[in-house]
Amino acid sequence: MLLRDVDLGDVEAYVRMRCDPAMMADLGGPLPREGIAAKVERDAAEAAEDTSWIKMIVPDEARPEVVAGTVVVWSHASDGESLSEIGWMVLPEFQGRGLGKRAVRALLERARAEDRWGLVHAFPATTNAPSNGICRSIGFSLVGERDVPFADRVIRSNHWFVDPRSLDSPSQPPAPGMIGSWLGAGCDESQNGWVVDAGRAGPARSEFQSHPVPEPTDPACVQRRDAGAEETARANRWWWDSDADAYQDRHSDFLGDVSFIWGPEGLAEDDARLLGDVAGQRVVEIGCGAGQCGRWLVGQGARAVGIDLSRRQLLRSQQFDSTSGTVLPVIQADAQRLPLADGAFDLAFSAGGALAFVADATAFLREVARVLRPGGLFVFATTHPFRWSFLDEPDEAGLVAVDSYFDRRAYVEHDSHGDATYVEHHRTVGDLVRCIAAADLRLKDLVEPEWPADFDRTWGGWSRLRGRIIPGTAIFVCARP
Ligand SMILES: C[S@@+](CC[C@H](N)C(=O)[O-])C[C@H]1O[C@@H](n2cnc3c(N)ncnc32)[C@H](O)[C@@H]1O
Repeated sequence: MLLRDVDLGDVEAYVRMRCDPAMMADLGGPLPREGIAAKVERDAAEAAEDTSWIKMIVPDEARPEVVAGTVVVWSHASDGESLSEIGWMVLPEFQGRGLGKRAVRALLERARAEDRWGLVHAFPATTNAPSNGICRSIGFSLVGERDVPFADRVIRSNHWFVDPRSLDSPSQPPAPGMIGSWLGAGCDESQNGWVVDAGRAGPARSEFQSHPVPEPTDPACVQRRDAGAEETARANRWWWDSDADAYQDRHSDFLGDVSFIWGPEGLAEDDARLLGDVAGQRVVEIGCGAGQCGRWLVGQGARAVGIDLSRRQLLRSQQFDSTSGTVLPVIQADAQRLPLADGAFDLAFSAGGALAFVADATAFLREVARVLRPGGLFVFATTHPFRWSFLDEPDEAGLVAVDSYFDRRAYVEHDSHGDATYVEHHRTVGDLVRCIAAADLRLKDLVEPEWPADFDRTWGGWSRLRGRIIPGTAIFVCARP
């Protein structure tokens, strides 16, 4: 596929896109044919002047005359401020082949390479499921719905935005040698995943404004069903990117920026010492969020690295790097495919990180075992499986068992298009013990932190009232033989 500037020969393609009832169904119906030639003329002039990027999508480079659609980035005023927008259209016979997504991504990658356009917004009609799917799968964040003027009409649209610099691109090369030199050990940075420049100053506060996440108030938006690895990772990356700011703001007084807490009961690693003496140890935190735990370990003399699926969580981590002065190198990657060499770590841990958010627990544990040296430890905290029987409420309502502990189907939230926006997987205690054994790890301890009598704090469904009666967190201490 290639993208080329629109030219005067593209009138027919414009007509097919803009004057066709099916193509324009989500945009209030077809536009009149007259005026299209003048529009192409204006667009071609703008493209030639480079004031906008107005590109025709050519699926086959050998046949540049065959056009599949268009993708455009331009800048305009919105509420008195300049705003960059991206829009695209794909002709019916080329739909369903991923061309639209590739074209959008290619233009955003160019925006990143040229450091042009800043944040890029998109406003697909709420009814346009494929375009909203493209936004989600590329990693746009959803702000909410709004009415957008288009031609002589108003279109109910979803407002998405993306920072092209934060595209999750497996093809983006990692900063060479950074993690490897920090660890002083073999660390394969060439695999899937890439290194966030830990030395970079944290972004300005304005990049961290909160973005509302749709609340699954409608029971139809929540299901218990099976969810595979890719669907799970896609949904959870979207969720954590969208919720990262609100999550960090909600829990900042508890999590701090350099502190290691295993879970809502407040068990501190400083007291529990489940990882042992960490000074000089190579440690990887999986599902590190904003890296508070890893940063604490760095302060204890460990050579720690954080891994997380969510770019936005990692941006918060970088912000804490600058405010605290303690830097945790971080990598954006999926826990199911760690971009790390075999045996590169003495210790691995996860404090409520990836386990519940991956579809195949055994495969995940095997992947962690792979990066540990023989004798290395993997300590992971997860929501206590026992809690799956109860409503996630901090008060009396959360003390009534309503769901079967043995129901292994995932908890899935989805949006009005049916796309999953959050997936959490449940395993029983026995399941987890078997997964650990199947990954060739040895279970050394299972810690169930008790709620401290004088600790009166609520964290979602965790509270003193419930904590006195039912367990909230399970911490599995495993060793690679
Ligand atoms: C509850 S937070 C735990 C992080 C940290 N300990 C805290 O308390 O804030 C869960 C983290 O796991 C990350 N995560 C979810 N799925 C993941 C995956 N497949 N790979 C890596 N990280 C993942 C999320 O992005 C999120 O930052």
